[in-house]
Amino acid sequence: MTTTSLRYLLCFFLMLTIAGCAVKSDVKVIKLGHALDVNHSVHKAMVFLAEKVDEKSNGKMRIDIYPNGQLGSERELLELLQIGSIGMTKASAAVLESFMPSMAVVNLPYVFHSKDHYRKVLGGEIGQELLTSGEEFWMRGMCFYDAGSRSFYSKDKPIMKPEDLQGLKVRVQSSASAIQMVRLLGGSATPIPFGELYTALQQGVVDAAENNPPSLYLTRHYEVCRYYSLNEHTFVPDVMLVSTHTWDDLNDEQKKWLSEASFESAVHQRTLWEESEKEALDAMIADGVHVEYPDKGPFIEKVRPMLDAFANTEYRKKLLERIEAVDESSQTEN
Ligand code: GCU
Repeated sequence: MTTTSLRYLLCFFLMLTIAGCAVKSDVKVIKLGHALDVNHSVHKAMVFLAEKVDEKSNGKMRIDIYPNGQLGSERELLELLQIGSIGMTKASAAVLESFMPSMAVVNLPYVFHSKDHYRKVLGGEIGQELLTSGEEFWMRGMCFYDAGSRSFYSKDKPIMKPEDLQGLKVRVQSSASAIQMVRLLGGSATPIPFGELYTALQQGVVDAAENNPPSLYLTRHYEVCRYYSLNEHTFVPDVMLVSTHTWDDLNDEQKKWLSEASFESAVHQRTLWEESEKEALDAMIADGVHVEYPDKGPFIEKVRPMLDAFANTEYRKKLLERIEAVDESSQTEN
Protein backbone atom coordinates (compact mmCIF):
# COMPACT_ATOMS: atom_id res chain seq x y z
CA MET A 1 0.00 0.00 0.00
CA THR A 2 1.33 3.46 -0.94
CA THR A 3 1.76 6.23 1.61
CA THR A 4 -1.10 8.17 -0.02
CA SER A 5 -3.58 5.30 0.16
CA LEU A 6 -2.48 4.65 3.74
CA ARG A 7 -3.26 8.29 4.52
CA TYR A 8 -6.70 7.95 2.89
CA LEU A 9 -7.37 4.81 4.90
CA LEU A 10 -6.40 6.55 8.16
CA CYS A 11 -8.60 9.52 7.28
CA PHE A 12 -11.48 7.19 6.54
CA PHE A 13 -11.18 5.48 9.95
CA LEU A 14 -10.86 8.83 11.69
CA MET A 15 -14.06 10.05 10.05
CA LEU A 16 -15.88 6.88 11.06
CA THR A 17 -14.78 7.34 14.66
CA ILE A 18 -15.87 10.98 14.72
CA ALA A 19 -19.24 10.07 13.16
CA GLY A 20 -19.74 7.33 15.79
CA CYS A 21 -19.05 9.76 18.60
CA ALA A 22 -21.37 12.36 17.12
CA VAL A 23 -24.23 9.89 16.82
CA LYS A 24 -23.53 8.67 20.31
CA SER A 25 -23.40 12.10 21.89
CA ASP A 26 -26.60 13.11 20.05
CA VAL A 27 -28.56 10.49 21.90
CA LYS A 28 -29.27 11.15 25.55
CA VAL A 29 -29.05 7.79 27.32
CA ILE A 30 -30.41 7.28 30.83
CA LYS A 31 -29.60 4.15 32.81
CA LEU A 32 -32.58 2.76 34.80
CA GLY A 33 -31.97 -0.02 37.33
CA HIS A 34 -34.62 -1.84 39.38
CA ALA A 35 -35.08 -5.07 41.33
CA LEU A 36 -38.27 -6.59 39.91
CA ASP A 37 -38.79 -9.57 37.62
CA VAL A 38 -39.30 -8.84 33.90
CA ASN A 39 -42.80 -10.35 34.01
CA HIS A 40 -43.93 -7.85 36.64
CA SER A 41 -46.41 -5.18 35.49
CA VAL A 42 -44.12 -2.47 36.86
CA HIS A 43 -41.24 -3.67 34.68
CA LYS A 44 -43.60 -3.75 31.68
CA ALA A 45 -44.65 -0.18 32.48
CA MET A 46 -40.99 0.88 32.45
CA VAL A 47 -40.53 -0.74 29.05
CA PHE A 48 -43.57 1.24 27.91
CA LEU A 49 -42.01 4.41 29.37
CA ALA A 50 -38.80 3.77 27.44
CA GLU A 51 -40.76 3.22 24.22
CA LYS A 52 -42.69 6.45 24.72
CA VAL A 53 -39.48 8.41 25.32
CA ASP A 54 -37.99 6.94 22.16
CA GLU A 55 -41.14 7.82 20.19
CA LYS A 56 -41.48 11.37 21.53
CA SER A 57 -37.82 12.18 21.06
CA ASN A 58 -37.55 10.55 17.67
CA GLY A 59 -34.76 8.37 18.95
CA LYS A 60 -32.82 11.28 20.50
CA MET A 61 -33.35 10.05 24.03
CA ARG A 62 -33.10 6.49 25.30
CA ILE A 63 -33.81 4.69 28.57
CA ASP A 64 -31.74 1.52 29.11
CA ILE A 65 -33.39 -0.78 31.67
CA TYR A 66 -31.45 -3.13 33.99
CA PRO A 67 -34.04 -5.33 35.83
CA ASN A 68 -33.84 -8.11 38.43
CA GLY A 69 -31.51 -6.33 40.82
CA GLN A 70 -28.54 -6.80 38.46
CA LEU A 71 -27.26 -3.34 39.52
CA GLY A 72 -28.15 -3.83 43.20
CA SER A 73 -30.96 -4.01 45.74
CA GLU A 74 -33.52 -1.20 45.99
CA ARG A 75 -31.56 0.48 48.77
CA GLU A 76 -28.28 0.25 46.82
CA LEU A 77 -29.97 1.58 43.69
CA LEU A 78 -31.25 4.58 45.61
CA GLU A 79 -27.74 5.28 46.83
CA LEU A 80 -26.42 5.04 43.24
CA LEU A 81 -29.18 7.41 42.16
CA GLN A 82 -28.24 9.99 44.76
CA ILE A 83 -24.68 10.18 43.53
CA GLY A 84 -25.78 10.13 39.88
CA SER A 85 -24.23 6.75 38.99
CA ILE A 86 -27.59 5.70 37.59
CA GLY A 87 -30.12 8.14 36.15
CA MET A 88 -33.36 6.46 37.16
CA THR A 89 -34.71 3.79 39.46
CA LYS A 90 -37.97 2.39 40.74
CA ALA A 91 -38.26 1.93 44.47
CA SER A 92 -40.95 0.80 46.84
CA ALA A 93 -42.15 3.72 48.98
CA ALA A 94 -41.28 1.57 52.02
CA VAL A 95 -37.56 1.57 51.20
CA LEU A 96 -37.76 5.14 49.95
CA GLU A 97 -38.95 6.55 53.27
CA SER A 98 -35.44 6.59 54.74
CA PHE A 99 -34.26 8.65 51.74
CA MET A 100 -37.39 10.82 51.38
CA PRO A 101 -38.95 11.07 54.85
CA SER A 102 -42.31 12.50 53.73
CA MET A 103 -42.96 9.24 51.84
CA ALA A 104 -43.47 7.51 55.22
CA VAL A 105 -47.10 8.59 55.25
CA VAL A 106 -48.11 6.20 52.46
CA ASN A 107 -46.52 3.30 54.35
CA LEU A 108 -48.73 3.68 57.41
CA PRO A 109 -50.97 0.66 57.88
CA TYR A 110 -54.62 1.25 57.04
CA VAL A 111 -54.02 4.91 56.18
CA PHE A 112 -56.00 4.25 52.99
CA HIS A 113 -59.54 2.85 53.26
CA SER A 114 -59.60 1.19 49.88
CA LYS A 115 -57.86 0.86 46.55
CA ASP A 116 -59.93 3.79 45.22
CA HIS A 117 -58.96 5.99 48.14
CA TYR A 118 -55.26 5.13 47.65
CA ARG A 119 -55.45 5.90 43.94
CA LYS A 120 -57.28 9.19 44.46
CA VAL A 121 -54.75 10.37 47.05
CA LEU A 122 -51.70 9.47 44.97
CA GLY A 123 -53.23 10.70 41.72
CA GLY A 124 -54.06 14.09 43.20
CA GLU A 125 -52.32 17.04 44.80
CA ILE A 126 -50.95 15.09 47.80
CA GLY A 127 -49.31 12.58 45.45
CA GLN A 128 -47.67 15.39 43.46
CA GLU A 129 -46.40 16.99 46.64
CA LEU A 130 -44.84 13.71 47.76
CA LEU A 131 -43.18 13.08 44.41
CA THR A 132 -41.39 16.42 44.37
CA SER A 133 -40.43 16.26 48.06
CA GLY A 134 -37.28 14.31 47.18
CA GLU A 135 -35.47 17.07 45.34
CA GLU A 136 -33.48 18.12 48.37
CA PHE A 137 -32.29 14.50 48.63
CA TRP A 138 -31.10 14.38 44.98
CA MET A 139 -34.07 12.47 43.66
CA ARG A 140 -37.24 13.51 41.92
CA GLY A 141 -40.35 11.35 41.83
CA MET A 142 -41.81 11.07 38.32
CA CYS A 143 -44.87 8.90 38.95
CA PHE A 144 -46.38 6.24 41.19
CA TYR A 145 -46.91 2.69 40.01
CA ASP A 146 -49.69 0.66 41.55
CA ALA A 147 -48.49 -2.06 43.87
CA GLY A 148 -51.90 -2.98 45.28
CA SER A 149 -52.24 -3.99 48.90
CA ARG A 150 -49.86 -6.06 50.98
CA SER A 151 -50.93 -9.01 53.13
CA PHE A 152 -49.26 -11.77 55.14
CA TYR A 153 -48.20 -15.12 53.73
CA SER A 154 -46.85 -17.91 55.86
CA LYS A 155 -45.42 -21.40 55.82
CA ASP A 156 -47.18 -23.41 58.50
CA LYS A 157 -50.51 -21.83 59.40
CA PRO A 158 -52.72 -18.98 58.18
CA ILE A 159 -52.50 -15.55 59.83
CA MET A 160 -56.12 -14.94 60.77
CA LYS A 161 -55.54 -12.53 63.67
CA PRO A 162 -52.54 -10.56 65.02
CA GLU A 163 -51.92 -13.21 67.70
CA ASP A 164 -51.07 -15.71 64.94
CA LEU A 165 -47.91 -13.70 64.27
CA GLN A 166 -46.57 -14.28 67.76
CA GLY A 167 -43.31 -16.22 67.72
CA LEU A 168 -43.02 -15.89 63.93
CA LYS A 169 -40.07 -14.32 62.16
CA VAL A 170 -41.59 -12.13 59.50
CA ARG A 171 -39.57 -10.75 56.61
CA VAL A 172 -40.07 -7.03 56.10
CA GLN A 173 -38.66 -4.51 53.64
CA SER A 174 -35.82 -2.29 54.74
CA SER A 175 -38.25 0.20 56.28
CA ALA A 176 -38.79 1.56 59.79
CA SER A 177 -42.57 1.64 59.18
CA ALA A 178 -42.70 -2.01 58.16
CA ILE A 179 -40.60 -3.05 61.17
CA GLN A 180 -42.80 -1.14 63.57
CA MET A 181 -46.00 -2.46 62.06
CA VAL A 182 -44.96 -6.10 62.41
CA ARG A 183 -43.79 -5.48 65.99
CA LEU A 184 -47.10 -3.91 66.94
CA LEU A 185 -48.89 -6.88 65.45
CA GLY A 186 -46.79 -9.25 67.59
CA GLY A 187 -44.35 -10.72 65.03
CA SER A 188 -40.57 -10.59 65.00
CA ALA A 189 -39.64 -8.26 62.09
CA THR A 190 -36.63 -9.35 60.01
CA PRO A 191 -35.48 -7.04 57.17
CA ILE A 192 -34.23 -9.04 54.17
CA PRO A 193 -33.70 -7.82 50.57
CA PHE A 194 -36.44 -8.98 48.21
CA GLY A 195 -34.07 -10.99 46.03
CA GLU A 196 -32.87 -13.09 48.98
CA LEU A 197 -36.28 -13.93 50.35
CA TYR A 198 -37.03 -17.21 48.56
CA THR A 199 -33.99 -18.87 50.08
CA ALA A 200 -34.63 -17.27 53.47
CA LEU A 201 -38.15 -18.74 53.52
CA GLN A 202 -36.98 -22.10 52.25
CA GLN A 203 -34.20 -22.37 54.81
CA GLY A 204 -36.39 -21.21 57.70
CA VAL A 205 -34.53 -17.94 58.31
CA VAL A 206 -38.05 -16.46 58.35
CA ASP A 207 -41.48 -18.11 58.72
CA ALA A 208 -43.60 -15.54 56.94
CA ALA A 209 -43.52 -12.41 54.81
CA GLU A 210 -45.97 -9.95 53.31
CA ASN A 211 -46.60 -8.67 49.82
CA ASN A 212 -49.08 -8.11 47.04
CA PRO A 213 -50.36 -11.08 44.93
CA PRO A 214 -48.21 -10.54 41.78
CA SER A 215 -45.01 -10.30 43.81
CA LEU A 216 -45.85 -13.39 45.83
CA TYR A 217 -46.66 -15.25 42.63
CA LEU A 218 -43.81 -14.13 40.36
CA THR A 219 -41.16 -14.77 43.00
CA ARG A 220 -42.64 -18.25 43.53
CA HIS A 221 -42.61 -17.71 47.30
CA TYR A 222 -46.04 -19.42 47.25
CA GLU A 223 -44.22 -22.71 46.61
CA VAL A 224 -42.89 -22.44 50.17
CA CYS A 225 -45.67 -20.40 51.80
CA ARG A 226 -49.01 -22.10 51.26
CA TYR A 227 -51.13 -19.64 53.30
CA TYR A 228 -52.02 -16.18 52.08
CA SER A 229 -54.21 -14.07 54.38
CA LEU A 230 -55.63 -10.99 52.70
CA ASN A 231 -55.66 -8.63 55.68
CA GLU A 232 -54.46 -5.81 53.35
CA HIS A 233 -52.50 -3.91 55.99
CA THR A 234 -50.81 -1.46 53.60
CA PHE A 235 -51.04 0.00 50.12
CA VAL A 236 -47.37 0.75 49.45
CA PRO A 237 -46.83 2.16 45.95
CA ASP A 238 -43.78 1.80 43.76
CA VAL A 239 -42.19 5.10 42.78
CA MET A 240 -40.34 5.99 39.58
CA LEU A 241 -37.45 8.33 40.35
CA VAL A 242 -34.91 10.31 38.43
CA SER A 243 -31.65 11.54 39.90
CA THR A 244 -31.57 15.34 40.17
CA HIS A 245 -28.05 15.15 38.64
CA THR A 246 -29.68 13.69 35.51
CA TRP A 247 -32.81 15.85 35.65
CA ASP A 248 -30.89 19.13 35.97
CA ASP A 249 -28.81 18.12 32.98
CA LEU A 250 -31.87 17.74 30.71
CA ASN A 251 -33.14 20.61 28.57
CA ASP A 252 -36.80 21.65 28.73
CA GLU A 253 -37.78 19.51 25.78
CA GLN A 254 -36.14 16.39 27.25
CA LYS A 255 -37.81 17.04 30.61
CA LYS A 256 -41.15 17.25 28.84
CA TRP A 257 -40.61 13.94 27.03
CA LEU A 258 -39.66 12.20 30.24
CA SER A 259 -42.52 13.70 32.29
CA GLU A 260 -45.15 12.86 29.70
CA ALA A 261 -43.82 9.34 29.16
CA SER A 262 -43.77 8.69 32.92
CA PHE A 263 -47.34 9.86 33.33
CA GLU A 264 -48.52 7.73 30.39
CA SER A 265 -46.67 4.68 31.70
CA ALA A 266 -48.39 5.05 35.10
CA VAL A 267 -51.82 5.14 33.45
CA HIS A 268 -50.92 2.09 31.36
CA GLN A 269 -49.57 0.21 34.39
CA ARG A 270 -52.90 0.46 36.24
CA THR A 271 -54.58 -1.72 33.63
CA LEU A 272 -51.67 -4.15 33.64
CA TRP A 273 -51.84 -4.26 37.43
CA GLU A 274 -55.53 -5.17 37.56
CA GLU A 275 -54.93 -8.06 35.16
CA SER A 276 -51.80 -9.32 36.91
CA GLU A 277 -53.35 -9.17 40.38
CA LYS A 278 -56.27 -11.33 39.28
CA GLU A 279 -54.07 -13.70 37.30
CA ALA A 280 -51.72 -14.17 40.25
CA LEU A 281 -54.48 -14.94 42.74
CA ASP A 282 -56.23 -17.32 40.35
CA ALA A 283 -53.01 -19.17 39.59
CA MET A 284 -52.10 -19.55 43.27
CA ILE A 285 -55.57 -20.78 44.19
CA ALA A 286 -55.39 -23.27 41.32
CA ASP A 287 -52.07 -24.45 42.72
CA GLY A 288 -53.69 -25.13 46.09
CA VAL A 289 -52.57 -22.07 48.07
CA HIS A 290 -55.03 -21.35 50.92
CA VAL A 291 -56.26 -17.79 50.38
CA GLU A 292 -57.97 -16.46 53.51
CA TYR A 293 -59.95 -13.28 54.23
CA PRO A 294 -59.37 -12.45 57.91
CA ASP A 295 -61.36 -9.81 59.80
CA LYS A 296 -59.30 -6.61 59.47
CA GLY A 297 -60.70 -5.05 62.70
CA PRO A 298 -58.17 -6.55 65.16
CA PHE A 299 -55.24 -5.68 62.84
CA ILE A 300 -56.46 -2.07 62.54
CA GLU A 301 -56.75 -1.79 66.32
CA LYS A 302 -53.20 -3.03 66.96
CA VAL A 303 -51.50 -0.62 64.57
CA ARG A 304 -53.52 2.49 65.45
CA PRO A 305 -50.68 3.83 67.70
CA MET A 306 -48.55 4.21 64.57
CA LEU A 307 -50.93 6.73 63.06
CA ASP A 308 -51.18 8.64 66.35
CA ALA A 309 -47.39 8.74 66.68
CA PHE A 310 -46.99 9.88 63.08
CA ALA A 311 -49.14 12.96 63.66
CA ASN A 312 -46.46 14.55 65.86
CA THR A 313 -46.10 17.82 63.94
CA GLU A 314 -48.74 20.25 62.63
CA TYR A 315 -47.77 19.42 59.04
CA ARG A 316 -48.08 15.66 59.55
CA LYS A 317 -51.35 15.99 61.43
CA LYS A 318 -52.74 18.11 58.60
CA LEU A 319 -51.43 15.66 56.01
CA LEU A 320 -53.32 12.79 57.63
CA GLU A 321 -56.45 14.94 57.77
CA ARG A 322 -56.08 15.85 54.10
CA ILE A 323 -55.68 12.17 53.17
CA GLU A 324 -58.74 11.29 55.22
CA ALA A 325 -60.71 14.02 53.47
CA VAL A 326 -60.00 12.77 49.93
CA ASP A 327 -63.26 11.53 48.50
CA GLU A 328 -62.67 8.07 47.07
CA SER A 329 -65.87 8.13 45.02
CA SER A 330 -65.03 11.37 43.15
CA GLN A 331 -64.32 11.11 39.43
CA THR A 332 -61.29 13.39 39.30
CA GLU A 333 -58.08 11.42 38.95
CA ASN A 334 -54.76 12.30 37.38
C1 GCU B 1 -43.16 -5.29 45.97
C2 GCU B 1 -42.71 -4.00 45.38
C3 GCU B 1 -41.21 -4.00 45.23
C4 GCU B 1 -40.53 -4.37 46.52
C5 GCU B 1 -41.06 -5.67 47.06
C6 GCU B 1 -40.48 -6.04 48.43
O1 GCU B 1 -42.95 -6.30 45.06
O2 GCU B 1 -43.31 -3.81 44.12
O3 GCU B 1 -40.81 -2.71 44.83
O4 GCU B 1 -39.17 -4.53 46.35
O5 GCU B 1 -42.45 -5.57 47.16
O6 GCU B 1 -41.22 -6.54 49.26
O7 GCU B 1 -39.31 -5.82 48.67
